[in-house]
Amino acid sequence: MRGVLDVPEALVPVQGLIADALVRVESVFDEHLRAELPPVDQLCAHVERYRGKMLRPILVLLGAISAAPEAPELFASGREDELVTDELIRLAAVCEMVHMATLVHDDVLDDAELRRRGATLNHLRGNEAAVILGDYLIAGAYHLCATIGRLDLSERIGRVSMDLCAGELLQLHHRGDLSLDEPTYFEIVRRKTGTLIGVSCELGASLVNAPPETASALYQTGLRLGVAFQIRDDLLDLTGDEQRVGKSVRKDLEKGKLTLPLVHHLGACEPISRGRSLELIEGGAGGVSEADERELLGRLTETGSVTYTEATARALVNEAQQQIATLPPTPARALLDALAQAVVDRAL
Ligand code: IPE
Ligand code: IPE
Ligand code: MG
Ligand code: MG
Repeated sequence: MRGVLDVPEALVPVQGLIADALVRVESVFDEHLRAELPPVDQLCAHVERYRGKMLRPILVLLGAISAAPEAPELFASGREDELVTDELIRLAAVCEMVHMATLVHDDVLDDAELRRRGATLNHLRGNEAAVILGDYLIAGAYHLCATIGRLDLSERIGRVSMDLCAGELLQLHHRGDLSLDEPTYFEIVRRKTGTLIGVSCELGASLVNAPPETASALYQTGLRLGVAFQIRDDLLDLTGDEQRVGKSVRKDLEKGKLTLPLVHHLGACEPISRGRSLELIEGGAGGVSEADERELLGRLTETGSVTYTEATARALVNEAQQQIATLPPTPARALLDALAQAVVDRAL
């Protein structure tokens, strides 16, 4: 993941292959949004100005180059760059564009001011512009996907976008629900984050005509990574530093979103102390004071809820790594494994 991953010496060439491919992904992304209308292009320029970790496009690329039937042979003869076709680049841009659309809308829902170390679009230009720009991005993603000319890929991208929205709607439905249980939390996270990361792993493999069972296994791998990624993100929202994370934090509590550490804590704490925890969580809806935040974190630590949350994410990543180990042994597979580890180790 850009900016997050240090790789061993042996993986530097394949990392270079991905880095070169990402430059192409970014230019396809930017070109495709061009409207030749200054007010639209100015908004798009803002989106282009700030880049994130590019996790989803990296997974599309790695899924393809680790699962392509001819990958071992091309790696052995130093011709692995032949795996990075224009269609693959476009597919990687599609996944980033769907992701970008969800972030632009998510920042409206969360009233967030900071994203990728810069002001959010809603903060700079207001909610109306951000809502329509999010629509423009999602429409752009479907249009770009259609240019690849593979109905199976378009069908998957359409379905996953529905999953994403359904997850967000389920989350909205449970806002302020202090009795949210773990299965419902996982259902939300699987839909809103897991499915796009799953599809990112899967579709690169589908594009290069990997066996369908390999593509499906990669979807399952990505789903686990995605859920672990969101669990880590939820922890960072609760405990991370805004400047380091680069986006608004402490939003989940403020918006009444109960995440795994809190769900676990409320289930684990003694009845006598539960009332005080509920009071702190409910009070968080108006923004938590530093003293309340410290007290709540102390309580989460007492019930082992932070450790539990970290262990849950780690177990999902371990399962994903076991699946990655069944792919053909290429440098791309090793990089995918390192990336899986970074999902839980990351601090931004
Ligand atoms: C943020 O995703 C939204 C979540 C699913 C947690 P990323 O952390 O991948 O965002 P960027 O693209 O790097 O900014
Ligand atoms: C993830 O939820 C949002 C989407 C998958 C769209 P968050 O609300 O936790 O994402 P961040 O923390 O704002 O990036
Ligand atoms: Mg958010
Ligand atoms: Mg978050």
